[in-house]
Amino acid sequence: IDLLIRVCVAPGTEKILVTPPTYGMYSVCAQVNDVGVVKVPLELSGDAGEGGEKGRFSLKVDEVKKAISADRSIKLVFLCSPGNPTGTLISLSSIREILDYEDFKGVVIVDEAYIDFADDKASAVSLIQEYSNLCVTQTLSKGFGLAAIRVGIAFAHPALVQILMNTKAPYNISTPTAALALSALSPSAIDLMRQKIATLVKGRGQLLEGLQELRALGLGAPIGGNDANFVLVPVLEKSGSGKPDNTRAQRIYKTLAEQEGVVVRYRGGEPGCAGCLRITVGSEDEIKVVLKKLGELLESM
Ligand SMILES: Cc1ncc(COP(=O)(O)O)c(C=O)c1O
Repeated sequence: IDLLIRVCVAPGTEKILVTPPTYGMYSVCAQVNDVGVVKVPLELSGDAGEGGEKGRFSLKVDEVKKAISADRSIKLVFLCSPGNPTGTLISLSSIREILDYEDFKGVVIVDEAYIDFADDKASAVSLIQEYSNLCVTQTLSKGFGLAAIRVGIAFAHPALVQILMNTKAPYNISTPTAALALSALSPSAIDLMRQKIATLVKGRGQLLEGLQELRALGLGAPIGGNDANFVLVPVLEKSGSGKPDNTRAQRIYKTLAEQEGVVVRYRGGEPGCAGCLRITVGSEDEIKVVLKKLGELLESM
């Protein structure tokens, strides 16, 4: 992310476009590089359901196009699919619309950190041969469970890849890291990864069922898509008003982390995510623990 910003966006004068609620590092890297950030929120209304072309957390294609035409200094558009923290896929047709937009002279980055948890056909890698203004990024941190080796992957036109290669630090991937990454990408290791993901998807179902049972204690229905390894669920006011409650959510988040050793993410400050906790799907035992502790705290707070 940092390298793409350094290569494609001039400090001081040019900008990136992001679509909140989204991964925070795009803006952090922009700030570090003295690059501006234009924000075009995803569709935040829940009226049309989750994802798809027009559902909650779908890409507002026309708004993105308007922002691009209004500000020719935007050089990168960051799309996160499946979204963090939304868990929602961005449709390939929406991505194509941005890639095809004549006014845009920059590069579209599709961040697919969570793509291994989604349907096989969802990846924008299938568009790489067609578009020289597309870069798809993935990581071994999530589906492969190898966050500690710090290896990411970028798929792009050879000309952009060459510029990234010329700009990166020399020998940035050590031999042991490369060996681990290669063995994780062998056909048999990929089969194993797929099996683990099937288990995780089952666990996501168990977590969603368990959360449903906590609704009576002032927990809302999960929002966002189901295409990642986490769920996004709003904590509501204790009074039963049905309104999201950031203060209660924050207290629960803090107590879970500091007293119960269960770390979830508080996302109540993000657009469209009022009161929300993002809960990662763990092992069967971890799911039981988070449901039990969350239930206890919802009762007492
Ligand atoms: C959407 C998204 N992109 C990229 C990353 C970065 O992945 P890594 O830790 O492998 O650099 C993350 C990590 O949380 C993420 O959520």
